[in-house]
Amino acid sequence: MGERQRKVHGIMICLPFQGHLNPFVSVALKLASKGFAITFVHLEFLYRKLRDAHHANETDVDFFSGARELGLDIRFTTMADCFPLEFDRDANFPEYWETMARDFPALADEFVGNVVSSEPDMIHFLVADTIYNWPAAVARKYNLVNVSLWTQPALVYCLAYHWDLLEQNGHFPCKDDVEEEIKYIPGVESINTKDLMHYLKESQFGSVATRMMRSVFEQAKMADFVLQNTVEELEPQTLSALHKYLPNYAIGPLNFSKNLPTNTVTTSLWSESDCTDWLESKPPASVLYVSFGSFVHTNKQVLEELAYGLILSEVDFVWVIRRGILGDGETSLLPTGFQDAVRERGLILAWCDQIKVLSNPAVGGFLTHCGWNSTLESMWSGVPMICYPFEYDQPCNRKLVVDDWEIGVNLSEDYGSLDREQVAHKIKSFMNEGVSGKNAGRVRQVMQNAVEIDGFSERNFDRFVKDLEAKIHAQN
Ligand code: UDX
Repeated sequence: MGERQRKVHGIMICLPFQGHLNPFVSVALKLASKGFAITFVHLEFLYRKLRDAHHANETDVDFFSGARELGLDIRFTTMADCFPLEFDRDANFPEYWETMARDFPALADEFVGNVVSSEPDMIHFLVADTIYNWPAAVARKYNLVNVSLWTQPALVYCLAYHWDLLEQNGHFPCKDDVEEEIKYIPGVESINTKDLMHYLKESQFGSVATRMMRSVFEQAKMADFVLQNTVEELEPQTLSALHKYLPNYAIGPLNFSKNLPTNTVTTSLWSESDCTDWLESKPPASVLYVSFGSFVHTNKQVLEELAYGLILSEVDFVWVIRRGILGDGETSLLPTGFQDAVRERGLILAWCDQIKVLSNPAVGGFLTHCGWNSTLESMWSGVPMICYPFEYDQPCNRKLVVDDWEIGVNLSEDYGSLDREQVAHKIKSFMNEGVSGKNAGRVRQVMQNAVEIDGFSERNFDRFVKDLEAKIHAQN
């Protein structure tokens, strides 16, 4: 068989978090719909989590069987990480990532090597999460084209890409209490130091997050292609500046790709409660949706001030409080009497189908931690945001939402503490007066246009597929 007839096969490995899994599954479906064979790799513990959330009584669940029945060539497998299944990765985050940074590269190397040698009739390529520190070395070793999938905004990629420049200018490590405008990063007109990612701050210096992200960006520069879960029209200067260094393709918003059988693949890591009936009893745009995503931990003081703020605001709300959000095993999360005080005005859920909630006409605002998926999902539905970022990319995402696109407001002016009276005042005025409804509608249109057949993101994806094929054939 000549080289050109050999099936081209992508090995996809994402970070084991909800905010990474969702866009990765979309890219798997997109690639398969273009005729590539795909092996989607879940870390074993994540597979168990998914299975327990949706198919507790079954043993072998193949999450891509529905997509395969529709003719897409997606296989699914699992691999070990460095810990036993019962290890609580969420509660022991630093220890988990310390070990992952050190020991997982060898496991990934061995795993990818085995896949490649077990399928000698295929030409393989790698699609790995940018936030891993091993893909460049593994791709080089097995002669694989290295596609890096970045699940956050291009702004964050660009800042981290220019880590050395930040260091040269005294902004790494960046003093936590100093506010300065940074104007020297190519593609970023201006950003205040307070909005930088938390792992660039002095208080994080030496932490596993900082060390990991630095090594991630050293090897990210060696990728062949970078897929960005953003929209060209939203971050044009940043993307165009990045093109000078690496081929970048803005193909977002990935959680909303058109004409893909996304409903055949289960991705939710927790079982979902449905609040549609409750929402349908509420007037349009009257409900505030509150959620801090799948990953961040907070403290009891924040939950308490938010709880009292919601009571005082008199606004209807759905509040997702994820089990384990305090990170310390504490289960009594809300002030005594909270439920009685809000009665039918407020609904507390452990997890929901967020996209479905945000698209319900009753939802008029989203109080969010500014995780990038949540941000894109809110923008997709034209729902303005109240922003309360915690860490990682979230402060940068806040800047985009509030300062650049003007589709949200800040919950508090400093990132840390909350005060119930201020929370109530902010929520009340946001929900009553609305914020930037016009801007939210405009951004919504940009998002929806991007995924049309001739939209920016669809065309960028087609261009990526052509470039990928050319590179694969040149290299094999
Ligand atoms: C993490 C980082 O925190 C975030 O900053 C980064 O951009 C991606 O990785 P996470 O904190 O979980 O992600 O936030 P986010 O990116 O918003 O992803 C959360 C995902 O969980 C969203 O796709 C959202 O739809 C989903 N979700 C959340 C649910 O399906 N149900 C819920 O109840 C809450």
